[in-house]
Amino acid sequence: MDDLKAGGIAVIDFGSQYTQLIARRIRELGVYAEVYAHHSDASQMNQHRPAGYVLSGGPSSVYEADAPQLPPFLLDAERPILGICYGMQLLTAAQGGAVAAASEREYGPAVIRHEPISPLFDGLDAELQVWMSHGDRIEALPAGYRALAASDNSPLAAIGDLERDRYGLQFHPEVRHSPRGQAILGNFLFRICRCQPVWSAATFIEDAVERIRAQVGDERVLLALSGGVDSAVAGALIHRAIGERLTCIFVDHGLLRQGEAEQVLQVFRHEQNMKLIAVNAVEEFLTALAGVTEPEAKRKIIGRLFVERFAEEARKLRGIRFLAQGTIYPDVIESAAAGASAKTIKSHHNVGGLPADLRFELVEPLRDCFKDEVRKIGEALGLPESIIWRQPFPGPGLAIRCLGELSWGRLEKLRAADAIFTSELAAAGLLRRGTAQSFAVLLPVKSVGVMGDKRSYEEALVLRSVTSEDFMTADWARLPYDLLAKVSARIVNEVPGINRVAYDITSKPPGTIEWE
Ligand code: XMP
Repeated sequence: MDDLKAGGIAVIDFGSQYTQLIARRIRELGVYAEVYAHHSDASQMNQHRPAGYVLSGGPSSVYEADAPQLPPFLLDAERPILGICYGMQLLTAAQGGAVAAASEREYGPAVIRHEPISPLFDGLDAELQVWMSHGDRIEALPAGYRALAASDNSPLAAIGDLERDRYGLQFHPEVRHSPRGQAILGNFLFRICRCQPVWSAATFIEDAVERIRAQVGDERVLLALSGGVDSAVAGALIHRAIGERLTCIFVDHGLLRQGEAEQVLQVFRHEQNMKLIAVNAVEEFLTALAGVTEPEAKRKIIGRLFVERFAEEARKLRGIRFLAQGTIYPDVIESAAAGASAKTIKSHHNVGGLPADLRFELVEPLRDCFKDEVRKIGEALGLPESIIWRQPFPGPGLAIRCLGELSWGRLEKLRAADAIFTSELAAAGLLRRGTAQSFAVLLPVKSVGVMGDKRSYEEALVLRSVTSEDFMTADWARLPYDLLAKVSARIVNEVPGINRVAYDITSKPPGTIEWE
């Protein structure tokens, strides 16, 4: 792996909500980028011999007493540096320039005009739209620096020491609101750092296969397939590396969406030819969940039973040394950042730890990958679109979307309505892109309606569809009225037992995405 990662970029995190996005954007350009907390050791930050450093933004002010500092080794590293927002101010302050609070905070779109003197803006129009978000500004440049771009409110919107390849941007090139931001990052990577675009799904797979073989040797690996993207791609990747020596366990708890359990068997057993043990635990889960209405109680029961059934199967397969997991890079960053600089942390524990008699070494081939990279790898491994482009689905499944008491009948009703909603969204091109998560929620509430000439008294269903970048915040999707009308009509006509459909227009916060 080291060769593929070498010559990339170390992104140093000062607490910006955009730090991961910076790394993602760099990787989209074919260059490996890894995020490091600003207090990491030089040896850690340099472990993959980066060709350059990007300093993220952050919520602090450089003149505050406890503001995060520039890692001292950086100024002696003799490699290019790009400071973004706080990163730029830090670079300025550390080299003798002055930073102070601006009279007004600048937030939102701005137009910058740049001087055609630096490689950073090579090939770009003289005027560019960018996204600003800062409260501090540079008052005096350090020695060797000059202004490279200005906006109406920021005379120093971009600065650079062209001799030493150090640059600063007051705006955020990584966000979509800076339409040419990717070209600016590209110039930094290819014209200034002289990176090679070697990071791709194909090179990643080749490399990961070798690493998995090296780690696993002649041993066997076990994997819990959930039907979700991450475990599916991890499975396909490990299967490519070690074939028959991978055994997958799929616990069917009866809480998946319509057709999903069948699809898992079809794709992994028949199309991918993977060794797959399917455990039908539907009865057991429904029995344990009977009469339970409290959301956290549902989660606990499901988590416990899942581990029990998985452990039972795992015990039967003697002598397996490795357990594979679909951990991805944001999971790694978030757990590493707990207690450090990132502010937004949420993790869901679907399955608790395995019992003490089951000890495995972990294989986590996607630890370095962002979600969009996982999808590209899945595509390159030949997994079908329906698995790769699946929207996130909670571990407790439909149990937390079927409010009130669970029964097979109510779950089937929910599945049928949910399938209508998702198929209409897919037909309108709003499932894969356009909405981040869309699903139906069945309420334990009856209302009166009229169908044909008869009075009906049936349950109500809510449609939920949100847009979101990171699922920490979300907005309700402005779905077209005609689409909502069609979905509502189809559900009431085609799904017995539902006579009313509502659309949830709550954002998160204050709502959550799921109803339970
Ligand atoms: P909320 O409802 O908290 O959800 O806004 C944020 C994201 O997390 C998913 N979610 C879960 N995922 N186990 C999971 O694996 C859970 O218990 C769980 N609860 C919520 C939710 O679908 C959304 O993507």
